[in-house]
Amino acid sequence: MTKRLAIIAGDGIGPDVVREALAVLAAVETVFHPGLQVEQLPYGADHYLRTGETLPPGEMERLGRDFDAIFVGALGDPRVPGNEHARDILLGMRFQLDLFVNERPARLIDERLTPLKGKTPRDIDLMVFRENTEGLYVSVGGTFKQGTPDEIAIAEELNTRKGVERIVRHAFAWAAEHGKTRVTMADKANAIPAHQLWRRVFETVGREYPTIQRDTRYIDAMAMDLVRTPESFQVLVTGNLFGDILSDLASILVGGLGLAPSANRHPGGVTMYEPVHGSAPPLAGKNVANPMAAILTLAMMLDDFGATDAARAVELAVHRAIARGIGTADIGGSMGTREVGDWISKAVLGAVKT
Ligand code: NAD
Ligand code: IPM
Ligand code: MN
Repeated sequence: MTKRLAIIAGDGIGPDVVREALAVLAAVETVFHPGLQVEQLPYGADHYLRTGETLPPGEMERLGRDFDAIFVGALGDPRVPGNEHARDILLGMRFQLDLFVNERPARLIDERLTPLKGKTPRDIDLMVFRENTEGLYVSVGGTFKQGTPDEIAIAEELNTRKGVERIVRHAFAWAAEHGKTRVTMADKANAIPAHQLWRRVFETVGREYPTIQRDTRYIDAMAMDLVRTPESFQVLVTGNLFGDILSDLASILVGGLGLAPSANRHPGGVTMYEPVHGSAPPLAGKNVANPMAAILTLAMMLDDFGATDAARAVELAVHRAIARGIGTADIGGSMGTREVGDWISKAVLGAVKT
């Protein structure tokens, strides 16, 4: 069956890295023929500044209805300082399409990539599950007396039983399916009593998975221990804001944002794929951004489509590139975005010696 893919390259380095991911997809089509139907969409800061619209009316519904996957580069542009277009499009997709699972793996591919002394790929293999539809991101609150010395800014954190339960259950189910023996949950229940909901749900749902150890941490200690003893973690589950922070932290343990893929899911519905990184405005259009995060994100998508051979070929090409020192400056290489993308595309085609 043909899979329909919407592409939103977006802002900054988004178009730079998406171009390479699409070139790799073209190589994949040549070798593996997964038969994806691609539609490129223009949304982002340019479109917003030109037309005043973030997405046209009905577009969010169409994205949810007419596509199997949405692939996003990045959204965020200094010409939109309030970031309203990115919130509308990116957070809009997460909220309105109810993509409650933000899956952000961090696996060390090569020990040269970690800044941690003495750690090897055996030590760092994490899966971060970030709740993606609630928490402090819901824009419940507001400002009062703005611009005066008495200004008040309130942002409420929303935690629902349904919301916490479904992400916690997803983490345990994923752990069980993938032969993991431990799930760690991070919250701040010692200072924020509302987070005790997370503890209670974690305990209740976790008991349904007797072979999996339950581990709870406070977020501050968790951040420290991720650096100190990454080998003690397998699967992490946490709220929206903590998950945002921990996923960037986890990425640097394995080489940085230039290598970090992610998926935003609602099981059974459309999935939105994106690298974890943002639009990195200072790097945009300079042929310096690392395209590997976007390319590994493509591999995640191919895997979900059941194109397992294609997904493994893409991952292997990235791993081979890294083993051969082929990469952009952020991972210690000396090549440009396009050259790295070309090498990976050729490796998928079997046209370079890997
Ligand atoms: P960022 O992820 O864009 O950049 C953080 C740091 O990582 C920078 O030093 C950057 O140069 C580096 N970096 C990121 N991606 C890289 C890549 N592919 N190759 C090499 N280096 C890379 O985060 P930021 O600077 O805090 O945010 C910039 C803009 O992106 C903001 O508007 C922000 O809101 C937005 N943003 C969007 C997303 C998204 O679309 N999913 C994610 C994060 C940030
Ligand atoms: C991410 C980003 C977004 C988030 C921003 C751009 C709203 O940092 O996808 O990690 O905070 O979720
Ligand atoms: Mn983030």
